[in-house]
Amino acid sequence: TLYQATASAPVNIACIKYWGKRDTKLILPTNSSLSVTLDQDHLRSTTTSRADPSFERDRLWLNGKEEDIKAGGRTATCITEMKRLRKQEVEDKQPNEPKISEYSVHIASFNNFPTAAGLASSASGFAALVSSLAQLYHLPVSPSTLSLIARQGSGSACRSLFGGFVAWEMGSASDGSDSYAVEVAPQAHWPDLHALICVVSDDKKGTSSTSGMQRTVETSPLLQHRIKEVVPKRMKDISKAILDKDFDSFARITMADSNQFHAVALDTEPPIFYMNDVSKSIIALIVEYNRVSVANGGGYKAAYTYDAGPNAVIYAPKENIKEIIQLIVKYFPQHEGLFKDVFGLFGGADL
Ligand code: DP6
Repeated sequence: TLYQATASAPVNIACIKYWGKRDTKLILPTNSSLSVTLDQDHLRSTTTSRADPSFERDRLWLNGKEEDIKAGGRTATCITEMKRLRKQEVEDKQPNEPKISEYSVHIASFNNFPTAAGLASSASGFAALVSSLAQLYHLPVSPSTLSLIARQGSGSACRSLFGGFVAWEMGSASDGSDSYAVEVAPQAHWPDLHALICVVSDDKKGTSSTSGMQRTVETSPLLQHRIKEVVPKRMKDISKAILDKDFDSFARITMADSNQFHAVALDTEPPIFYMNDVSKSIIALIVEYNRVSVANGGGYKAAYTYDAGPNAVIYAPKENIKEIIQLIVKYFPQHEGLFKDVFGLFGGADL
């Protein structure tokens, strides 16, 4: 008998950035983080897993091309952990269930967006991998439990198990058992908040998140200030802003945290630059857009954030999205074809 399941998971974009590990093998972070899961057909990974007694070994295909599953590597760890959960939660408890945890798996995953363009493909990829195995194995476990395993594929992946607004609690246990994702608010809580993704460049990025953040941990004095003094308060404040649907506070915190993440990248030895001149010009545009609104007695109208690459993600209330696109197209006509508008957030991995 062939067992098969398919699941997909979307990209998430952090408002409070994860940058730094205290344990590189278990992927335990130096600070908690918080993100919004995008719900869009353009930015998902879809993964099919199969288990069959005739399979000789675990195999993986990414976008149609077979990849090595390195022994002890991240993919191998996720598969091993999912098999262990199947045994523990299903087969040991219900001896009549088939022992499919003993079969090898074949896994095929597709991204419908450029890999490694700073669009967090590893996040949706590992979330979809874990979700498809959870379905294949009929695991009666919560998304938070699955997030413990997705985390070991890629830290940010743990947040894509949920839709809506999601926190990754850093935890303090050395075995990682309290470092998992939790829902801050569901997708339906703040449907008026939309996101616009501006693909400034889809080139492969220079410094990977994994190696970049480790260099930051080893060399940046500013990171110590960030993780101790800054992030804990921001986590509280932005959670409140989300629960209150207070866009002004949400925007200020999101932009400040993006800025500080890029500051600790610059504070790394040798320094890391993720934003390019177009990224910086988009920041100037959003700053001016907000300044004019405040000068006219209004509040902030948009918030930018940048991950480990030059692409901008702009969060804004729905009513402003059209105006923001018009502004961007007016000031960056040469980039018109590159901007991808993403309307409607939310939705998590389908479980
Ligand atoms: C800048 O999750 O890609 O996007 O855990 O080493 O796989 P690894 O790193 P990864 O880092 C993401 C960094 C970030 C910020 C964020 O998503 O919180």
